[in-house]
Amino acid sequence: MHDEDRILSLPGRMRPRRLRRTPVLRDLVAETRLFPERLVQPHFVLPVERGTEPVEAMPGIARVGLEDLLRQVEEDLALGIRSVLLFGVPAEEDKDPEGRMAADPEGAVPRAVRRLKDRFGDDLLVITDVCLCAYTDHGHCGLPGDHDVDNDATLPRLVEMALCHAAAGADLVAPSDMMDGRVGAIRDALDDAGYETTGILSYAVKYASAYYGPFREAAGSAPGKGDRKGYQMDVRNAREALREACLDEAEGADMLMVKPALAYLDVIRAVREATRLPLAAYNVSGEYSQVKAAAARGFIDEGAVVRENLLAMARAGADVLITYHAREALAHGWI
Ligand code: PBG
Ligand code: ZN
Repeated sequence: MHDEDRILSLPGRMRPRRLRRTPVLRDLVAETRLFPERLVQPHFVLPVERGTEPVEAMPGIARVGLEDLLRQVEEDLALGIRSVLLFGVPAEEDKDPEGRMAADPEGAVPRAVRRLKDRFGDDLLVITDVCLCAYTDHGHCGLPGDHDVDNDATLPRLVEMALCHAAAGADLVAPSDMMDGRVGAIRDALDDAGYETTGILSYAVKYASAYYGPFREAAGSAPGKGDRKGYQMDVRNAREALREACLDEAEGADMLMVKPALAYLDVIRAVREATRLPLAAYNVSGEYSQVKAAAARGFIDEGAVVRENLLAMARAGADVLITYHAREALAHGWI
């Protein structure tokens, strides 16, 4: 031990515990805060007026018809949730190899967007997921191609889908497909069509993760054959995340996302330092279901764990937190 270290560690000199003595003192020096206005609640929307179908793998989450969605969002607004992310759950018979229903103005998402914006206007921020996997009969995020999907043939369909959501009134479209060049293609098309104020929240850094399992049950979007490793990112890579983030920024993304969140806190931190754009973290379905399952068995304190997880994402550098826990976190005062 060096002399300096011995002096510094003498009792009475350096005592970090001094600042932990009371709750008021701890709050005074807390480095991270959670803001309800930065939470985004995801919704799974059915193309029907009424109905609620619980998602078995995600206790507390259901697929909802339009009326039920409106009621739920109204309740959530009262809690302080001001932003939603919408996923469509089309009927099986509406799926085809090219996912045509994805850009149908009478699909669940455009209908939901019109109804939500009619009812809540700019009090509610509406973000829509743009991807084909829930709409293709093979379950891949793009049109069939050589290995898995044909990147460039998929772009026009994603563009149509984004335009359809923008026409319905979406505030932000969120492409989650991981095709190369889609942000630029969508940005150009939105501008050409007069939607220059519609923003793009890019799922810029999206890993081929096993944590999406419960979501695929909820959205009915599991690939029939193969996996998504040919387009989503390799879980071993972090440098590549910066490449993806920088490309999407250059292509005109307004906000970036890292997904999943908890297993990728290092990536959130790295992307935070590489861009000036607002950064979202997606606390995905499998991360949610793990907490729910452990809490249901009494293995963990749900509220404390949810708070700790959300704080971890914020501390890593995420501004916006997309989480299925949002509603309960506010309803029960967990954050
Ligand atoms: C669609 C999409 C997925 C998620 C969001 N958008 C699933 C996937 O890529 O397989 C995952 C969300 C979650 O797990 O909560 N591409
Ligand atoms: Zn997809």
